[in-house]
Amino acid sequence: MEIIGIGTDLVEVERIKAFAQKSGALKRIFSTEEINYCQARKNQYEHLAVRFAAKEAVFKALPFEGVAFKNITVINLESGRPQVVVKDVRANGLNILISLSHTRHYAIAQVIVTK
Ligand SMILES: CC(C)(COP(=O)(O)OP(=O)(O)OC[C@H]1O[C@@H](n2cnc3c(N)ncnc32)[C@H](O)[C@@H]1OP(=O)(O)O)[C@@H](O)C(=O)NCCC(=O)NCCS
Repeated sequence: MEIIGIGTDLVEVERIKAFAQKSGALKRIFSTEEINYCQARKNQYEHLAVRFAAKEAVFKALPFEGVAFKNITVINLESGRPQVVVKDVRANGLNILISLSHTRHYAIAQVIVTK
């Protein structure tokens, strides 16, 4: 196993809250599953913010350019553990490891890509 990329991103929850309140904004960046997951939780903006951080961190860690944020999604296993799905053939064969954390004000994502 070889580490081929790392990425990290820190997001202010308030920034995502302002973004989310613009008409149609969420659907441009987040999948329906991501939106549903976040909106079912007490502070949806923390969960949206951490997913935005996840997309940016994955973007930084991937060894190629130009993947659309909508094609980088986070799903949660039954345990709550997050997993990344990248819909881009160039990501085939890559393992993308992610860890997320959020508070009322900040959300952070850390990513390691291996193959
Ligand atoms: C899972 C746990 C580590 C999350 O830590 P936290 O400080 O509460 O919250 P953080 O903001 O740091 O992390 C939240 C993120 O951790 C991730 N996460 C949740 N469960 C996880 C798990 N089992 N493994 C790895 N990551 C996990 C998720 O991405 C979550 O964000 P999301 O819901 O928006 O996707 C914490 O709840 C814990 O210690 N759980 C174990 C014990 C426990 O509470 N069990 C519950 C049943 S009794």
